[in-house]
Amino acid sequence: MSTPSHDLVAFGATSFVGKILCRYLGEEFGAQGEMTWAAAGRSKTKLEELRSSLGPEAGTLPLVVADAADEASLRKLCASTRVVVSTVGPYALYGEPLVRACAESGTDYCDLSGEVQWIRRMVQRYEATARTSGARVVHCCGFDSIPSDMGVHFLQRQAMKRFGAPCTRVKMRVKAMRGEFSGGTVASLMNVIKEAAADPALRKELADPYSLCPAGSTPKVRQPNVRSAEFDVDFGAWVAPFVMSGINTRIVHRSNALSEQAYGAAFTYDEAMLMGRGLKGRFAATAMTAGLSGFMAAGAIRPARAVLKRFVLPKPGEGPSPEAQRKGFFDLRFLGTTADGRQIHTKVTGDRDPGYGSTGKMLGQAAACLARDIDKAATPGGFWTPATIFGDRLIQRLTAHSGLTFERLVDGLGEILLHQ
Ligand SMILES: NC(=O)c1ccc[n+]([C@@H]2O[C@H](COP(=O)([O-])OP(=O)(O)OC[C@H]3O[C@@H](n4cnc5c(N)ncnc54)[C@H](OP(=O)(O)O)[C@@H]3O)[C@@H](O)[C@H]2O)c1
Repeated sequence: MSTPSHDLVAFGATSFVGKILCRYLGEEFGAQGEMTWAAAGRSKTKLEELRSSLGPEAGTLPLVVADAADEASLRKLCASTRVVVSTVGPYALYGEPLVRACAESGTDYCDLSGEVQWIRRMVQRYEATARTSGARVVHCCGFDSIPSDMGVHFLQRQAMKRFGAPCTRVKMRVKAMRGEFSGGTVASLMNVIKEAAADPALRKELADPYSLCPAGSTPKVRQPNVRSAEFDVDFGAWVAPFVMSGINTRIVHRSNALSEQAYGAAFTYDEAMLMGRGLKGRFAATAMTAGLSGFMAAGAIRPARAVLKRFVLPKPGEGPSPEAQRKGFFDLRFLGTTADGRQIHTKVTGDRDPGYGSTGKMLGQAAACLARDIDKAATPGGFWTPATIFGDRLIQRLTAHSGLTFERLVDGLGEILLHQ
């Protein structure tokens, strides 16, 4: 087998988030620097436009033309690189041939998929192949689910240092965030809602918090789940459902299962949004719940879905403006409790809008970590989670290069309420 020419190839480079990723890779690694990378997509013209938009220093950036529906082009793509990082979505529509090609060729792969049903299918179909070939596959390397998965990993490391025991109960609460959806994310979300509306078995699968855990790996404990406005005594505030919890909680439980229940066999985890205190907080939590339920219900009905797509939501290729990306941010709070009641508080923040400005940087560092830090000989092929394959090495990269912070809060809940 010939040596790959690139450390990593960004497939879907002309997508909304792919362009952000490529700009970031250019800024971090240069076009022909120590980390060699290439931009890939289905249209040569669009790739050339992208390269021009990255400035004169990107003039030598290699371009690779490949189509998600053309297996021969995907095999060539895999042979050219050590890592493929894909932003071609919805993944449930376009992603499988590339995962198959990577699993068969032993090429490492990471992506931004947050589509639970598709990830589960990929694990079932290609885990054995990836183990044999040595391909390491890591889904969910964006806002879903790096801050949650790495945030719980960080909290558990702190708990082990302070208490010598993991926290068997962890709550993640979104204290604040500012960001918008892109057309690609909307298309992925709508596709999940559409598939679920037509398939009761899939609805059951999506409702199972352990749906991404290997069969029989985890004793099934009843998991908390914020489905409506409720008062959270620990945080002294009203909370509402968090739209990303459906994927994040599944990834965190998979991390626990893959690490032989390092967080405990009876580990429980949930996510919600902090909406404030008193009547104002209650009203905000109720309004948020109603808005989310209305959106899900409309997405499940074909005519309403068509109206949303046509008149309300961003189209594929569209997304938040550069200014909105710069002004965006997120601030997540974690509360961990050990089996004997000791508590620890941590926070994870990001300095750009969660879904794009920050996601591009998280994905870029995850791909770089896979290419540079994770030794093939020491880490076997298979389907990993960000926390189980990257661990502290990704936290170092994210804090040094991606505008994220991971901190233990010494003044605990007092600090949380102060900023409410
Ligand atoms: N996890 C997270 O935090 C997170 C955040 C952001 C986005 N996402 C996900 O990332 C994905 C991309 O989002 P986006 O907003 O960037 O989407 P987008 O702008 O709509 O881009 C979709 C991309 O797919 C490419 N594509 C479609 N069919 C193809 C084919 N047959 N062969 C090769 N390429 C093909 C398109 O190519 P052309 O450019 O040639 O049209 C386009 O570049 C979505 O699935 C979204 O849900 C996840």
